[in-house]
Amino acid sequence: MSQGNPQNQGTPQSQGSPANQVGQLSPGSRANQGERCAADIKHTFADKAKLDEIIRRCPTPFHLYDERGIREQARRLKEAFAWNPGFKEYFAVKANPNPAILRILKEEGCGTDCSSFTELLLSEAVGLTGSDIMFSSNVTPRREYELAHKLGAIINLDDFTHIDFLNEICGIPETICCRYNPGGVFTASNMVMDNPGEAKYGFTKEQLFLGFRRLQKLGAKRFGVHAFLASNTKGDDYYPELARVLFSLAAELKAETGADIRFVNFSGGVGIAYHPDEAAPDIMKIGGEVRKAYDEIMRPAGLGETAIFTELGRFMLGENGGLITTALHKKHIYKEYVGVDACAANLMRPAMYKAYHHITVMGKESAAPTQKYDVTGALCENNDKFAIDRMLPPIEIGDILWIHDTGAHGFSMGYNYNGKLRSAEVLLRCDGSFELIRRAETPGDYFATLDDPGLSRVLKEQLG
Ligand SMILES: Cc1ncc(COP(=O)(O)O)c(C=O)c1O
Repeated sequence: MSQGNPQNQGTPQSQGSPANQVGQLSPGSRANQGERCAADIKHTFADKAKLDEIIRRCPTPFHLYDERGIREQARRLKEAFAWNPGFKEYFAVKANPNPAILRILKEEGCGTDCSSFTELLLSEAVGLTGSDIMFSSNVTPRREYELAHKLGAIINLDDFTHIDFLNEICGIPETICCRYNPGGVFTASNMVMDNPGEAKYGFTKEQLFLGFRRLQKLGAKRFGVHAFLASNTKGDDYYPELARVLFSLAAELKAETGADIRFVNFSGGVGIAYHPDEAAPDIMKIGGEVRKAYDEIMRPAGLGETAIFTELGRFMLGENGGLITTALHKKHIYKEYVGVDACAANLMRPAMYKAYHHITVMGKESAAPTQKYDVTGALCENNDKFAIDRMLPPIEIGDILWIHDTGAHGFSMGYNYNGKLRSAEVLLRCDGSFELIRRAETPGDYFATLDDPGLSRVLKEQLG
């Protein structure tokens, strides 16, 4: 699962940390006193009238995605790294594995970063093969390497022992990448970003040097280096700091092994502003700072032709998705609860990381947030809460809630606990039309892997 990554989901920089819940309205705050201030407001990319139109065709809950926003984000990223002629974004499929989304990104010039058999199949299905695929997996089964090799994907090895494993399966391709784990604690601007020393990923530095030599012996001719040292990073320092680490490593590897290093892969990790108080990353500034590091380290090392690759998921899609859900029940016990028709099975991040997701009550965007609610799903798990002690406008049964920033690691982390079914996904097109890009799961889908005559009879009787 993507966020079980090195990556700092549980550290002070992660979504689950108190630091990331800054601005969650506390008693006495301005909005709590009945005013709506700018810091409480997050843009929704469709208004209530549009949602009502969609809901008539596709009942809630569903994830809604914004084609325009996705294209604009892809173009911003490309512009920020336009100075690097080989730059390419390999979209992290795990963040949003829907072919309609992958096709949009393909049109914007992106490839895919895959980590499993099914993600490879998805890439092939949208016409991405060969060097348009980066296969960055770990604990990789044999058949996944076989498929990656068959598709001509760039293979990013997670471990030294995988060199011989891959060689035995299909031989070593001429272009290959290795994932680096520097160990220790990763800091940027004196701020702890994450703890690679506790992460299961990558080669140690020593293993990388040995690994490159072994790969050269086995026929590798062109190399890449990759690292993913922190997730959902705040501020603009992560990529520039990572660049310095990876550029210096590339220069050392070239000097010591003579390897022809063709690309440096920064993987994912650039965050988004989940809370309206937070600043969004300044991708132009990030690109400019990486360029400085490139000019200082790569060019003098004779690596001035090396391409930069990214595998961003959250940055590309996060803000371009929302989970649309209806208030089903209100409950008053020791606290005020609003129960909605979505649950953690549709968006796991709040339950898993205590992640903040902003909520807009549609049609009440400028109403004062005078009520404190826990907004919950129906799972038999008390962590199935999209918001805790959140100040919102008074909610009525039937109100539509927009849970923000669910475009990455939202639907894709879904599961079926309590027999809950996965939701639909809807794409809002640039021209304002909308398309069902995944229908909601049915009970028949849920039971499809069971061959049970009793179930077949009941499904027929109950659902026709
Ligand atoms: C190998 C790899 N690349 C890219 C990503 C995407 O990360 P993000 O969505 O934070 O950009 C992940 C996420 O877990 C990952 O594991």
